[in-house]
Amino acid sequence: MQTNSPVGKNSVSGPSKKQGQLFTRKPLKMLLDEAKGENRLRRVLGPVQLTALGVGAVIGAGIFVSTGKAAHDIAGPALMFSYMLAGVACIFAALCYAEFASMVPVAGSAYTYAYATLGEMFAWIIGWDLVLEYAVGSATVANGWSSYLQKLLPKLGIDLPAALSKPLFMYVDKDGAGPGTDHEFAMTNGIVNLPAVLVVVAVTLVLVKGIQESARFNATMVAVKVFAVLFVILVGAFYINPENWQPMAPMGWGGISFFGHNVFGESSSGPPVGMVAGAAIIFFAYIGFDSVSTHAEEAKNPQKDVPIAIIASLLICTVLYIGVVAVLTGMVPYNQIDVGAGVSSAFSSVGLGWAETIIACAGVAGITSVLLVMMLSAPRVFLAMARDGMVPAKFFSAVHPKYRTPWKSTLLIGAFVAVLAGLLPIDALLEMANIGTLFAFVIVCAAVLIMRKKHPEAERPFRCPLVPIVPILGIIMCVGLMCSLPVANWYRLIGWLAIGFVIYFTYSMKHSVMRKAAQEDRS
Ligand code: ALA
Repeated sequence: MQTNSPVGKNSVSGPSKKQGQLFTRKPLKMLLDEAKGENRLRRVLGPVQLTALGVGAVIGAGIFVSTGKAAHDIAGPALMFSYMLAGVACIFAALCYAEFASMVPVAGSAYTYAYATLGEMFAWIIGWDLVLEYAVGSATVANGWSSYLQKLLPKLGIDLPAALSKPLFMYVDKDGAGPGTDHEFAMTNGIVNLPAVLVVVAVTLVLVKGIQESARFNATMVAVKVFAVLFVILVGAFYINPENWQPMAPMGWGGISFFGHNVFGESSSGPPVGMVAGAAIIFFAYIGFDSVSTHAEEAKNPQKDVPIAIIASLLICTVLYIGVVAVLTGMVPYNQIDVGAGVSSAFSSVGLGWAETIIACAGVAGITSVLLVMMLSAPRVFLAMARDGMVPAKFFSAVHPKYRTPWKSTLLIGAFVAVLAGLLPIDALLEMANIGTLFAFVIVCAAVLIMRKKHPEAERPFRCPLVPIVPILGIIMCVGLMCSLPVANWYRLIGWLAIGFVIYFTYSMKHSVMRKAAQEDRS
């Protein structure tokens, strides 16, 4: 009989005390057996579809929307280097994700990896954190989608009333003092960001209908947005004025703070500014490659295709992003970039109004595909948690009899995202999604180190290179970026985790499948 062995038999001799349960690990064989059960998802995705899902999840509101604000307020033209820095951090994390995705090719991503290595409580934390990441990330993306749509509507002669075009709240510099000062929430003259709510509803319905249709829809969208990004780079390159890159880092190269205390970079009374702080904000643009691993259970050949898709989608996006930022900051002086829809507005500012329309159309299409993949991911994390008894299985692991999708939790997440997207501003949502994702990356990098030490013999169809260097660098870089986010995000993350702990100790611990299995073993 095996205890706490992620590679042992499908039998557990669980903890005799509650403390033991917190660190109970789930055997790898048990994870793999579950994926063969009747509630398993259809294996329909090949390597190209998986890479398309990766690119579909990655290129979106981050590059099209947050780049403008980050260049304007936080990093200036040095944002190019911010994208490199965040890209490198993601590559380290991606290599670790890929190793796990090849070992444990079942739904649940970092949650499942944590359960196999760090134990139940850590798994709960990370699952709960991932749901936040995907839900808040989806709301952010829906908001960005709405900004781009609202660039297009006037061209079609449609004017939305202010009450229906803005969220109820905005996030403003305190006293209007500009970049680097603290932010606070204030009311807008709007009531709800209606386009953001409507797109969330539409995507939710597509997702309830099924993954295959969704993947096909996604592939078309991905083609449109890769075209748009290449268009920006190739056309915009002719309008670069290298003088706009001087000074390269007007707000410095640093921007690391710790709970509000500046430790590296320009001193400021508010949130950190500079190249590193820029990387922490635009990190959002890279979120999504990890969602490929949440589709492992739907992949035809997960051991090989999932790692390839993760790394391929990340490399493609990094190169494209650096190109777009070089063009954007070369076309427009950083302090004149439009913070709402920077990329498309840069083209109208050099007299290319037609190009602005093309980019805005492609932006709307491209951002839709991000929303699709992000909203697809959260219910799958819940599905994995429900199988373990961490959340009510009747609801969260209910797979639709005809469409074979986790439809109930898809509808629940859709409703939650619609409320967030309709009422909150993009900047507040953006920072919150980043901290949750960085935290998940730290856990995954740590889990690779632990698994290599405890179970060197486990089969690893894909091996992360240069262990322990790569996971350690991944941890250092992700923690550094977490520290470069405004301090309010730490408080929000801690608040979310505190709610999670209450649920864990009052519900999940009692209903844990592993705990029940252990009790049966003993009796
Ligand atoms: N990376 C995704 C985006 O930029 C979340 O929209």
